[in-house]
Amino acid sequence: MRRSTDPGDSLVGLGTRLSRIHPYPAMVPDELALSLVSRFVPPDASVLDPFCGSGRLLAAATRSPLRVGIDINPLAWLLTQAKFAKVDPRRLRAIIAGISRAEGHSPEPAFLVGPTERKVKWFSKSVIEELSRVVQWLNSLDLSKNESLLVAAALSAAVRDVSFAREQGWKLHRLDAESRRKFRPCPWDRLARRLTYCLEELSKQSSSPCGRTIVKIGDSRTLACSGESPVAKYGPFDVVLTSPPYGDSRSTVQYGAASSLCLSVVSHLIGFDHLRASGGSIDSGCLGGAPVHRKPWFSPKPYWSGADQSPQAASISKYLSDYDAVCDGLVDHLSPDGKAVFVVARRSAGGYRLKLDEFTIDCFSRRGFILILREERPLSHKRTPRLINRFGRDATRRGSASALVPTMNSEIVVVMARSSVPGVKRRSS
Ligand SMILES: C[S@@+](CC[C@H](N)C(=O)[O-])C[C@H]1O[C@@H](n2cnc3c(N)ncnc32)[C@H](O)[C@@H]1O
Repeated sequence: MRRSTDPGDSLVGLGTRLSRIHPYPAMVPDELALSLVSRFVPPDASVLDPFCGSGRLLAAATRSPLRVGIDINPLAWLLTQAKFAKVDPRRLRAIIAGISRAEGHSPEPAFLVGPTERKVKWFSKSVIEELSRVVQWLNSLDLSKNESLLVAAALSAAVRDVSFAREQGWKLHRLDAESRRKFRPCPWDRLARRLTYCLEELSKQSSSPCGRTIVKIGDSRTLACSGESPVAKYGPFDVVLTSPPYGDSRSTVQYGAASSLCLSVVSHLIGFDHLRASGGSIDSGCLGGAPVHRKPWFSPKPYWSGADQSPQAASISKYLSDYDAVCDGLVDHLSPDGKAVFVVARRSAGGYRLKLDEFTIDCFSRRGFILILREERPLSHKRTPRLINRFGRDATRRGSASALVPTMNSEIVVVMARSSVPGVKRRSS
């Protein structure tokens, strides 16, 4: 395997559009997103990201005539849309100025926002009340569609800031009791800070992204059979540029929990009620979640060395089968000389690494593609903890050595193209 020192080194420090608008699990580092676009996405190429997340890869492809993003998570839809919202900085400045006038003068909230179904308390009573006032005030403003998108994304980030979720948390972990007691965040202030960041970023931009951006909430496992999807409507695509989840949501990243916390507030904004979703429903739509397609599932054997009959093996098998179903749909929507550019990793699952790079290569090879590049990149610029505690919420088991499991130390870029394209040759690995 070719091991890169770091293909994006010269781009370190550069950001994609509104890159820090909201923390999102497993974001592709900015410099990697920019480097992949400069190497594999010609300016006239249409791009599809079927797992768009916070939209960083699409946000790097600003010169493309068409960007289509799909994600099962409504929060991903919001963040990706917000990154492409064209907003006049003067309007944004006026909204920020309005915050300091509204704070302290807003009337009693007519309703309370926040999670209703959660047993664990994620907000103090006063924060819930202030968040409800903020939402009520925002709903009273006359905002355009683009302004609403940007404000909703900033509010979502502010909601996480004022919750009891740990700032550097890998999964949704709570502050300890003592920290919760001392924690007195101000939702108005956090919203103003988040919007000020957007204002600074937008004021720096010399030009808006070219072309169109289409983002849909949807399940990429059904691409092969959904004739009505935006992928069928706008495809075929020149490049699929994506970073899928590196494992199923039970054993790796749970996108649902943290996302639904933010959405439980944002969905009270006018025009955003379609974003309400429980953590469970988001996670069950993720790869390896509730079944959508046929058995038998893939054997994890060549890609993972754990015990065949274990519950972990069944989860991995389900996840890999879903992954294969996505690849099946993608090849139908790639133009004849199109490329699939995947950022993957070998995550530890049940003590063994899952070789997702090899599985990706095999999925495309079975469908007439060949590997043109495989490049490993150390995770030097991603805020990923080297060890995580797999019993994060269980205080009784947290201290044990077996609770600490290694995460990933590198990401792998895999580029595949159809073998029938003239001039495409297998790259020596
Ligand atoms: C590694 S993240 C993508 C991160 C993104 N590239 C970024 O930089 O923010 C993987 C994404 O896949 C999404 N996902 C998982 N299963 C999905 C499915 N079946 N259909 C569509 N999206 C899915 C998750 O919600 C998550 O946002």
